[in-house]
Amino acid sequence: MANQTNTPDEIDERVVALLEQMTLEEKIGQMCQLGASEGYAPDYLADGLRSGRIGSVINVVDLHAVNELQRIAVEESRLGIPLLVGRDVIHGFKTVMPIPLGQAASWNPEIVREGARIAALEAATTGVNWTFAPMIDISRDARWGRIAESFGECVLLTSELAVAMIEGFQGDDLCEPGAIAATAKHFAGYGAVESGRDYATTNIPETKLRNVYLRPFKAAVDAGVSTLMTSFSDLNGIPATANEFLLRQVLRDEWNFGGVVVSDWDSIRQLHVHGLTENDKESAYQAITAGVDMEMAGDAYSKHLAELLDEGRIDIAAIDAAVSSILRTKFKLGLFENAFTDPSRLPPVASKQGLEIARQAALQSVVMLKNDHHVLPLSAEKLGSVAVIGPLADAPYQQLGTWIFDGDVELSITPMHAIHSLVGHDLDVRYLRAMENSRSKASESFDEAVEIAQSSDVTVLFLGEESILSGEAHSRADINLPGDQAELVRRVRETGKPVIAVILAGRPLTLTNIVDQVDAILFAWHPGSMGGPAIADLLFGLESPSGKLPATFPRMVGQIPIYYSQKNSGKPASWDNITHIDHIDTRAPQTSLGMSAFHLDAGFTPLFAFGHGLSYADFDYQHIRVDSYEIELGASVTISAELTNRGDVAADEVAQLYVRDLVASVTRPVKELKAFRRVRLEPGESVTLDFVLHTDDLSFFGRDMRRTVEPGEFHAWVGGSSDTQLRTEFRIIQSA
Ligand code: BGC
Repeated sequence: MANQTNTPDEIDERVVALLEQMTLEEKIGQMCQLGASEGYAPDYLADGLRSGRIGSVINVVDLHAVNELQRIAVEESRLGIPLLVGRDVIHGFKTVMPIPLGQAASWNPEIVREGARIAALEAATTGVNWTFAPMIDISRDARWGRIAESFGECVLLTSELAVAMIEGFQGDDLCEPGAIAATAKHFAGYGAVESGRDYATTNIPETKLRNVYLRPFKAAVDAGVSTLMTSFSDLNGIPATANEFLLRQVLRDEWNFGGVVVSDWDSIRQLHVHGLTENDKESAYQAITAGVDMEMAGDAYSKHLAELLDEGRIDIAAIDAAVSSILRTKFKLGLFENAFTDPSRLPPVASKQGLEIARQAALQSVVMLKNDHHVLPLSAEKLGSVAVIGPLADAPYQQLGTWIFDGDVELSITPMHAIHSLVGHDLDVRYLRAMENSRSKASESFDEAVEIAQSSDVTVLFLGEESILSGEAHSRADINLPGDQAELVRRVRETGKPVIAVILAGRPLTLTNIVDQVDAILFAWHPGSMGGPAIADLLFGLESPSGKLPATFPRMVGQIPIYYSQKNSGKPASWDNITHIDHIDTRAPQTSLGMSAFHLDAGFTPLFAFGHGLSYADFDYQHIRVDSYEIELGASVTISAELTNRGDVAADEVAQLYVRDLVASVTRPVKELKAFRRVRLEPGESVTLDFVLHTDDLSFFGRDMRRTVEPGEFHAWVGGSSDTQLRTEFRIIQSA
């Protein structure tokens, strides 16, 4: 139930009343967020709070320190304005969920919402009331380390999961204990950094910006996200933190966003480093003019805003607007009623329920990329022994993933431990790490690995990359399995025994050099605290894999960017108009090898398509149809198909609907995901999938940068991946 003191009108009145009492110094203070990595309520923070020079702290996660800082702010400052307490609670707090890219592979908004809810409840026990998540940068470059923090490449999937995560963090009412303010970040375009090198430049034409990169942010704003964070990156020549087009025109004027815009860490002062401004004062000028309300971890605002106002270069209205949005958020959080945290009002941290959600999330995030001859699931009854080999089989910290400042490694259950507890009584489990770490090039233990594999009925290799190899500033130019892992695979393969690869990683990897060397691959991302039990249950068939790829897996790094919703081009490639480099005959003069959009060495298809993911069940899609071929603009169409489980186990499947707008005034993608649904089917069970699309769902930003739906022909596909060929057609017609 909404708290009476927090109705929007009343909040606005209280903001105005408070603003009237504030000095300029107190106003500017609200716009400053300071970090506190040292000590308990250090003097500089305590003094700053007393004099009203700090509006928010970041990285204080000790309950007593936070309560003391709030006490100083509320009881010892002139106006008693409480603090926003920010922390990166990205994929869990003590209980760690899979990395966001893994959560995206679940294609399950419900589990993402529940995971965020648990994270918020746990973080709130320390007094944190603001998280810097979800990160909703569309990411089409697996070299970029931060793809791990994203929901992948697809606009619709990212948008729906963004909304779910925001709802999970913020709950129904920010006033309720355990609800924390969320941040949609990084506004905008950060995922398009050149060559996937973190912090590098982005260049994105406006139609693409609006049709792709901005859409998840629009969804987040519509869902009521409290705050947005600017991106570190330069967008078309103007760094995002000073980008008026983004922060004013789009965000405030077009979308009416009324929440807080916070800079990224010191990104205001970095405007000078970008080469946009001469000094910090000019950086402060550009940022406030563009619409950044709060400066994270810098001092450009505290040092220069008053002077800029004095000189008449900025107006007090700009400062008032920024302070109002910050105060509004504090009122919405109920901080003026109670700024203090009493953890006994919240559920216990690391609860059974939280761990079960982490296990479910991990289960649903694992993607089975291949499973030749149904080698999986393994049968504990039929096997006598299993070899568990590899640097990531028993690495409790590394399975947690990139953003785990507060993650409790003691809660982490590794696959090796989980396999032992699940089947250790029934069969002989032999473990060998074989490599010190994923990057190691020392192969001394490979002979022993081969011996163990040789004498076991099946080998499960735990490969991949440690969590530190992805995340912020951890980009890679080569996204093969690092170190000598491919050699380990080759050696174990030589035994002739079945080989399963379970890969833990923070990004899609290029698996071309091992894909034919193994019988099955489970791609587990960094699965979090409960990764081990989830993987063990999947390996031994207690559960069926049901994850689907949220990002395309390239064959080779040179194919990047490769994503399912590409444009057709004027010369699209197909199997009959390409030549592979190995088949070029240079004995006779030759000029054409296909004249289409392909690579001589990599072709034009990915190794694994967006949406791909196998199951122990056998899902069959048939009878696609539309309820009406002609749809009037403004009406809806229902696209239906039959989905049957022809296998002999019950399992979840994620059914996907894709659409192509064949002809438009700006070219449209060859496929765009328009809907998806996770369904559970018993063996033999069928279900009719009805997907209802309104013609607005088919809108796009055209040449004039306005949203439009154009009449014409559409193709629609339903299936279990973006590769689906099950197609129907419909036509949008102008209403009479
Ligand atoms: C990251 C943000 C993060 C912030 C605070 C920055 O380096 O880009 O995503 O929220 O630090 O830790």
